[in-house]
Amino acid sequence: MRHFTSINDVGDVHDLVKRAITNKSDPPQQLAQQLFVALIFFNPSLRTRLSSEKACHLLGLTPYVLNAGQSWPIEFGEGAVMDGDKSEHIKEAGKVISQYADLIAIRAFPLLKDRDEDYDEPVIKGFMANTSSPVINLESATRHPLQGFADMITIEENKRREKPKVVLTWAPHPKALPQSVANSFAAWSLAMEYDVVITHPEGYELDPALTYGATIEYDPVKAYENADFVYAKNWSSYRSYGQILSQDSGFRVNREKFSVTNNAYFMHCLPVRRNVVVDDEIIDSQQSLVIQQANNRTFAMLTVLEQILRHMNI
Ligand code: CP
Repeated sequence: MRHFTSINDVGDVHDLVKRAITNKSDPPQQLAQQLFVALIFFNPSLRTRLSSEKACHLLGLTPYVLNAGQSWPIEFGEGAVMDGDKSEHIKEAGKVISQYADLIAIRAFPLLKDRDEDYDEPVIKGFMANTSSPVINLESATRHPLQGFADMITIEENKRREKPKVVLTWAPHPKALPQSVANSFAAWSLAMEYDVVITHPEGYELDPALTYGATIEYDPVKAYENADFVYAKNWSSYRSYGQILSQDSGFRVNREKFSVTNNAYFMHCLPVRRNVVVDDEIIDSQQSLVIQQANNRTFAMLTVLEQILRHMNI
């Protein structure tokens, strides 16, 4: 694996998930020393930052963090007249960072104003075009592949049948959020050949290129029937790009809807708004996998680093 920007950089998804489960019980020791990983955050993080630093340390890599969003805004526009708040262009910054970092990992959320611009992934592409180091996506404008990977590890650890029914449900939220987690969960669970059902109010359809093969069901109760896993996430509209079209509390995850599932597990990437997205009695129950999902972020990152180091002949 040269880069890890989306599921498209993965050869065999099943093999990668199996490898991560092996790494979790028997982590590879100190694969590399004197190698440096720049973790560049244009947006805040708890899980991604700490799990990435932990994974680096487990492998013997040295991570360092740049909170670029607050301290060092970077310009990505070709031909930009830089008379605003951005003091450095990616053309210089990327080449400079490459000299200090053998791998570069980036978090950059979408602006949610221009769909074409966000889906073109200007920050990830800007780094790839202007650095010589492998690039890892820590959640970009439209993808969160490390989260999707960790979610697949979690499902494989808990599934009770070969091809579980996995429901991705939109849930209400007071803020307009990216589609990244939902996009990646759909793409990864379809690649794992699960029975994937996506439920949301009309107008919240995701990019059809990423959900091809999934069943779309607008009635959440019908969607939950016989589900093995219910994955909740809010996202803003893809069609009416970046807008909040609904606050329908009928999509909040609760005991009543869970009663029609196959004793389903509850999943969420975190952070989560309790009693807006999911009722306390579900997230606090034995069926909740949210803490296990967060733990698996370390082994997703560790396995991605391992695969990239292998490609670098390390
Ligand atoms: N799930 C996730 O990416 O969490 P953070 O935003 O805390 O990194």
